Amino acid sequence: MFVVQLMFVSLFVHQVMSSGSGRHSLWAFATYISGTTPFPEFSAVLMLDDVQVGYFDSKIDRLVRVGGQGVEGAELNLGQEAVFILRDIFSSMRKRLEMVKHRFNMTTAGVHVQQRMTGCEVLEDGQPALIMFRDGSNGQDADSLMYNMTHFTYAGGDGWEIQWSAVKRMHFQMLYSNIYLPFCARALNHLLDREKNLVRRRVRPRVRFITKQVVGGARVTCLATDFYPRHINLTLLRDSTPVDEDELTGGSVLPNGNGLYQVRKSLMVSDEELQRKHNYTCVTSHLSLDNRLEVSWRAEFSRSHRIYIISAPAGLTLAAVLLMVLLWWRRRSEGVAMETQEQQERLSVNKETDSESAGLHLSRFVPDSRGQC
Ligand SMILES: *[C@@H]1O[C@H](CO)[C@@H](O)[C@H](O)[C@H]1NC(C)=O
Ligand SMILES: *[C@@H]1O[C@H](CO)[C@@H](O)[C@H](O)[C@H]1NC(C)=O
Ligand SMILES: *[C@@H]1O[C@H](CO)[C@@H](O)[C@H](O)[C@H]1NC(C)=O
Ligand SMILES: *[C@@H]1O[C@H](CO)[C@@H](O)[C@H](O)[C@H]1NC(C)=O
Repeated sequence: MFVVQLMFVSLFVHQVMSSGSGRHSLWAFATYISGTTPFPEFSAVLMLDDVQVGYFDSKIDRLVRVGGQGVEGAELNLGQEAVFILRDIFSSMRKRLEMVKHRFNMTTAGVHVQQRMTGCEVLEDGQPALIMFRDGSNGQDADSLMYNMTHFTYAGGDGWEIQWSAVKRMHFQMLYSNIYLPFCARALNHLLDREKNLVRRRVRPRVRFITKQVVGGARVTCLATDFYPRHINLTLLRDSTPVDEDELTGGSVLPNGNGLYQVRKSLMVSDEELQRKHNYTCVTSHLSLDNRLEVSWRAEFSRSHRIYIISAPAGLTLAAVLLMVLLWWRRRSEGVAMETQEQQERLSVNKETDSESAGLHLSRFVPDSRGQC
């Protein structure tokens, strides 16, 4: 389930994130897998905004709670319709993947994956705003349908508009506007009411500078971590003047892995500039902050960023001493506190790499698809 969920991160995450503040969304990320894998044939993860609240798969055949209020794994009651709709998504995705395999002459052996993101958005006052689905086959965008209360939009990539006759499209439009949208909006408002502490929470960012020596100067990074919601503004000042965005790298907000977010912006500072010892300030504004949060950094005397080369014998002695100190320290503080801290650190390292590993999982999953599409 975890791997399957990560695959979505790579394929669809930008979509979810584009829902601006002032709107709330309920998305099901559904995965259908054909072929032999340890995973259920069909599974779906239910997301309220960017928080997972439910899970369904073809083995358990029920919708259960994940996170949020109530007992983990207990029934998530969104009415009997929810389970009907999920089963319907299951069978439609199975049919769809069969069609795709046939159409693109894929080998039927091996593992194939069909993914669907489907759900709706409501405005702050609870009024429905849009409903859509978006399909991917073997990791590639396939087609999508969106209804935003006034317009139906259907988009199919090259060769993907299989199965969509005019009659079929009409049928789907009726289904989406008359059945799925009212149901989805109802479920979303119900969940919003129940999980308001979760989705309306405000978590303050932790902001710090990281500097790293590089050839010809230093890279100065302003890092904000562990905040929620994801909207944040980060600007870098050099002696009170904003640094041009062109000079900065980074800036995309990434999941922190613990339900919170992180973002970083980096500036290359040359040796000459370091000599001038400017005052760099990272200014952060976020919903959780009444005022702007400012963190400053000033280059120390230029010697501090010079690399010291320790001669080999001295280096070895130093390493031996460090090792002994480390061993002594470990024995002295052998206790729960030390262990937990270490584990936490290891955890947070893993978390930071989660988003990058998503793509790898995907390519491992669908080894024989790309060349044939
Ligand atoms: C489908 O693929 C098989 C094996 O790769 C090939 O023999 C066959 O000619 C292909 N058929 C079409 C219609 O491309
Ligand atoms: C729906 O989409 C159409 C076409 O993209 C756009 O012109 C219209 O303003 C949208 N309506 C709403 C309510 O967002
Ligand atoms: C650097 O600048 C910020 C505001 O731009 C100021 O608050 C801070 O005191 C300055 N730090 C130093 C060390 O001058
Ligand atoms: C970020 O800046 C934009 C434009 O200045 C502003 O509209 C928005 O409210 C700011 N967001 C936060 C979280 O401060």
